[in-house]
Amino acid sequence: MGYYLVEGGKPIGGEFSVRGSKNAALPILAATLLAEDEVVLENCPLIRDFYLTLDILRTLGCKVELTGRTAVIDTRVIHDVEIREETVQKMRSSILFLGALLGREKRAILGHPGGCAIGKRPIDIHLSSFEKMGVEIQEEDGLFYCSAPHILGYHIYLNYPSVGATENILLLAAKAEGVTVIHNAAREPEIVALVRFLRACGAEIYGEGTPSIMIEGVKKLHGAYFSIPFDRIEAGTFLCASAMTGGELSLLGVEKNDIETTVGALEKTGCKFRFTSDCLWMKPPKELKSDFSLVTGPFPGFPTDMQPLVMSLLTLAKGTCMISETVFEARFRHAEELCRMGADIVVEDRIARIKGCAGLHGAEVFGHDLRGGAALLIAALAAEGKSVIYGSQYVERGYEKIEDAFSLLGGNVRLME
Ligand code: EPU
Repeated sequence: MGYYLVEGGKPIGGEFSVRGSKNAALPILAATLLAEDEVVLENCPLIRDFYLTLDILRTLGCKVELTGRTAVIDTRVIHDVEIREETVQKMRSSILFLGALLGREKRAILGHPGGCAIGKRPIDIHLSSFEKMGVEIQEEDGLFYCSAPHILGYHIYLNYPSVGATENILLLAAKAEGVTVIHNAAREPEIVALVRFLRACGAEIYGEGTPSIMIEGVKKLHGAYFSIPFDRIEAGTFLCASAMTGGELSLLGVEKNDIETTVGALEKTGCKFRFTSDCLWMKPPKELKSDFSLVTGPFPGFPTDMQPLVMSLLTLAKGTCMISETVFEARFRHAEELCRMGADIVVEDRIARIKGCAGLHGAEVFGHDLRGGAALLIAALAAEGKSVIYGSQYVERGYEKIEDAFSLLGGNVRLME
């Protein structure tokens, strides 16, 4: 098991160019199947989940070339329609291949996704929406066999604005017969990115970023050039690290609207921000303050992916903060680990109470998931002394060489494999 060795206590500051977004890149990779052509993607994040998704495309028969941050993907020929159970369990976002394969081949087989470290994560909304559009689904030996001679547009009302279900429906509807409207659709920037990509390939889609998205199915899509937008969660992670360690940070390549709720939360702790063109500058106060509450929720609510990182920051803020996690039912496992570093956190069901402490100390801790692991890493950067953070394999799924990035910004982090 890989781990990070961190010597804390140094400010994290300077200039950092934010990389391409994991959660935008993964659905776009699935969407390349619909183009049945050559697609060029720029600003790709060089993270484990991106490589795993490229491998899925290769397994299906696509040609993939990656040079630097540019991926050239040729999806003209595929010879498989199955996403195997071990793949889905390794990386949940592979369920998005279901919509893309069905949209293209009218059939697909998906292994059972199962739960994961942050919750049960069922896919009922995906499957029931597919059924409404004419897809027949049979579950046999833990595999979902899906087929549809005709995929028909439909008015779909989501009972929850699921990001993945909205993406899967978009993929299925892009080449369906007739018009599909998704009501109560997810509004995350990653949905907007996927729609922009599909539109660049010739899809007819309107209303992305609002609760109603309309898709007019087209017969054929084509290849496109597309640049993956910045990762708002990576940006937020670095902001929290600097705020906790007292460093001044300039983030390059960010879009203000997409990161507003995270900036809003940090402003409440006393951090000052200035935004010019595509650069976001932040200066933390001498003493971070707390005494407010945060509730995670679908966009434009506070992002659940930032919850562990902001919790880490709040362990050092004067006062008390309550965080309610409404999106995932088991996303507080980092709290117990933060307490091993001296934090004062009490978790009851889906609410955490964080009371600021005078300082954190180094410890041996375990990251159980991607954002939880990153939260421990930034806590270790702010702590006095040495820390060992196990579970680097989760962090690597979504952060590109985070140890190098923090080291360049003044931290002392080493990845031990
Ligand atoms: N849900 C259902 N049924 C469904 C679908 C979702 O009950 O059919 C529930 C989930 O169990 C969860 C909630 O709805 O409790 C939200 O799930 P959603 O579908 O919105 O999330 P997702 O598509 O599975 C994406 C990101 C997550 C991010 C969430 C919320 C990707 C690859 N993943 O997951 O990212 O937390 O949206 O914003 O885009 C991460 O990057 O660390 C991460 C977990």
